[in-house]
Amino acid sequence: MPEYSRNYIRAHDDPINAAVAAVKEPQPEYVRLGQECPVAKHSAGTTLFKFADIVELTRRRDILGEGAPGPSMGAPRPMIPLDLDGPEHARYRRLLDPLLAPRAIAYLEPEVRRLTNELIDDFGQTDRVELYSQFCVPLPSTVFLNLLGLPVEDLSIINELKENVIRPQRKTSSDAEAFALVVDSGKRAISYLDERVAAREAAGANGKDLLSKILSMEVDGDRLTRDQVLDVLWLLVIAGLDTVTSSLSSMFAWLAEHPVERHRLAAEPSVIPAAIEELMRYETPVTATDRWATEDIVVRGQTIKAGEHIVVSWAAANLDPEEFPDPLTVNFDRKGNRHIAFASGFHRCLGSHLARLEMRVVFEEFHKRIPDYRLIDEDPPQWVYESSRCPTYLPLQLNWAQ
Ligand code: HEM
Repeated sequence: MPEYSRNYIRAHDDPINAAVAAVKEPQPEYVRLGQECPVAKHSAGTTLFKFADIVELTRRRDILGEGAPGPSMGAPRPMIPLDLDGPEHARYRRLLDPLLAPRAIAYLEPEVRRLTNELIDDFGQTDRVELYSQFCVPLPSTVFLNLLGLPVEDLSIINELKENVIRPQRKTSSDAEAFALVVDSGKRAISYLDERVAAREAAGANGKDLLSKILSMEVDGDRLTRDQVLDVLWLLVIAGLDTVTSSLSSMFAWLAEHPVERHRLAAEPSVIPAAIEELMRYETPVTATDRWATEDIVVRGQTIKAGEHIVVSWAAANLDPEEFPDPLTVNFDRKGNRHIAFASGFHRCLGSHLARLEMRVVFEEFHKRIPDYRLIDEDPPQWVYESSRCPTYLPLQLNWAQ
């Protein structure tokens, strides 16, 4: 596999490809793959499908994360903490975890509620909306830029750069062009962020936004260097803008076709947190990410060689019948749902509390005002699987509450 195809293009013979490429409902295929080839060998390495194997592997010190072969997603240096491993990774997690802990972000709730209602107001009482661009993109992006302390007016620049590194294929026609776009956009993003950090430092970094907090963080008694600040920020931008958008879009698409469950959200809002966990399990928009073996290991009798690339399929793990009885049934009352849609092990998601807060508030407010919506037969959603899997075009027919 060419070096630059990492993160963007799965090997043609990786069974995940066939299962999820632009397919509306790949879940049964994941279950089949987990049963038939739980450890799948292909030209780019090994893909793992079973929940227990993935949870065990992602806790092993001899397995490295995304960044083992070099910085990911156009970054000039390893992104912090995603591309780091071992004690260095742990040191940064200790500093960053408290910044996005439930108590640290709880103050955002009224703002998320206000913004959700403002975006719904902007629908203008129409009975049709394209939910992806009119809601799923702007809501988390605006929340996150405010939280970071970056100007919301810059959203289109930031979104463009983020799209270029996550989905370069959309604007290019070969792997080489895609690679060039990723590298160029990574550079532009770092230089944009550099200007913003300089401006913040000049203005005095003492706000309650994340950028101010990152600027005052210390590692072993020293402030972060400018490069380290940028390596944290760029990862947060990529991770914070895209994932909540994909999750909202895929969950709304599912609810649009399941009126019984959707009505339950409106009638019984206390079920919303459990419903979100169950839909995250079933949809798992960040379907798979990469790990790297540093020593030979054996999984279910198959050897993964030192240096080999491992794809961990969070989506398949979340549909593993050995962990989730009746995995293809979406059941808001499911007991013991330990899904790993936010990953497992050392690199588990840093932003899961923020993501959960946003999704809960959105579901509460949206279903109060628009309890009924459905897909439109002649204008169906368009599902994509590039970095995450979701509909990036989601037209809905709305029925407003009276
Ligand atoms: C529903 C939304 C989200 C999903 C499904 C999600 C999923 C994930 C997954 C699967 C990983 C593991 C990546 C890997 O190991 O290769 C991850 C890591 C990460 N996520 Fe999220 N994420 C979400 C929201 C967020 C948000 C809002 C932020 C930012 C505030 C964020 C920040 C991060 C960071 C910084 C990491 C790297 C952690 C590390 O390497 O130690 N995520 N996320």
